[in-house]
Amino acid sequence: MKQTMIKGTGRYVPPRVVTNHDLTQWMDTSDEWIRQRTGIEERRWVSAEGGIGPSDLGLQASKIALNRAEWTHEDVDLIIFATLSPDIYFPGSGCLLQHKLGLDSTPALDIRQQCTGFIYGLTLADAFIRSGHANRILLVGAEVQSTAIDLSTRGRDIAVLFGDGAGAACLEGVETAEAAGVLASALHAQGEFANILMMELPSHKLNPIITEEMVRAGRHYPFMDGRTVFKTAVRKLAQVTKEVLKKANLTVEDIDFFIPHQANLRINQAFAKLLNLPEEKVINNIQRYGNTTAASIPIALDEAIERQCIQSKSTVLFLALGAGLTWGAVVYRFL
Ligand code: COA
Repeated sequence: MKQTMIKGTGRYVPPRVVTNHDLTQWMDTSDEWIRQRTGIEERRWVSAEGGIGPSDLGLQASKIALNRAEWTHEDVDLIIFATLSPDIYFPGSGCLLQHKLGLDSTPALDIRQQCTGFIYGLTLADAFIRSGHANRILLVGAEVQSTAIDLSTRGRDIAVLFGDGAGAACLEGVETAEAAGVLASALHAQGEFANILMMELPSHKLNPIITEEMVRAGRHYPFMDGRTVFKTAVRKLAQVTKEVLKKANLTVEDIDFFIPHQANLRINQAFAKLLNLPEEKVINNIQRYGNTTAASIPIALDEAIERQCIQSKSTVLFLALGAGLTWGAVVYRFL
């Protein structure tokens, strides 16, 4: 039977390190506040001069993933690009990446599931592979968020959280009799809560889609009801973990590593406590990168593979909750 296997991963973060202390030059905040509430110590941001988009970061991560998978760019049947911060309003960053990779007419698809982008993307890739529509898929999660956050004290609740970066995975349909690859997936969305985490502008509901007055009011920056997101995340992540384990016919003990989206270290700790998970089974790297939205899971995965925590036969559970609201989980076993 054909199973969707991860053949190679890659990550790229821009070289500019922004520490919590650095943020105090723009806003009223402190290293202590940020560490205590979020676990974040530093994040990577693209150069303040601009000119770098998620497709550029995604290109670097993709090159590494392709190399590790021993694919050339021409082996790719489909690109799935997950981002909430596209290079330009349209067309999608997947098309831009396709061209930057030197591809001629390989299809490219952007998905807009924010922090749940990698979970939706992996599920989608699995469906494309199982249905025979594609056999080699490049899944990329990449974000440049630093250019679209309010660096004044008004925006500090959000500005301290987010980072830039990219992660990529080469996914291939492989015939195997083993129970390996994507074993189960659970996806959810609840548009009722779209307004607790959103960026409103530019908006086609408005005419014109953006005005100076709207910009002065900061409506082109992300808005977040942090407390509600926090509480909802802990609850839903625990629920979806149980759901996907049931689908895979596995228990919490069968999972070697949980790789959650990196929104807040305290969310992941509360989630782990709720399910009674040993700390060492939950992979966190938010301390160094902040929340890189669709890039966070593939970056953490790539690091875990590189550190050799993940090995042959490891069973991993990916999970995330983000704007939409969207949330989901995937159970994956390495060959
Ligand atoms: N530095 C210093 N003080 C800050 C601050 C910052 N960066 N951001 C907010 N504050 C202040 C607030 O103004 C408030 O002050 P007040 O009590 O005088 O009104 C106080 O800190 C508490 O704010 P609050 O928003 O209630 O803090 P919190 O404990 O809920 O923590 C978050 C805020 C954002 C860290 C937390 O809610 C969170 O992480 N939520 C989830 C976010 C998330 O996961 N988002 C992405 C989902 S994919």
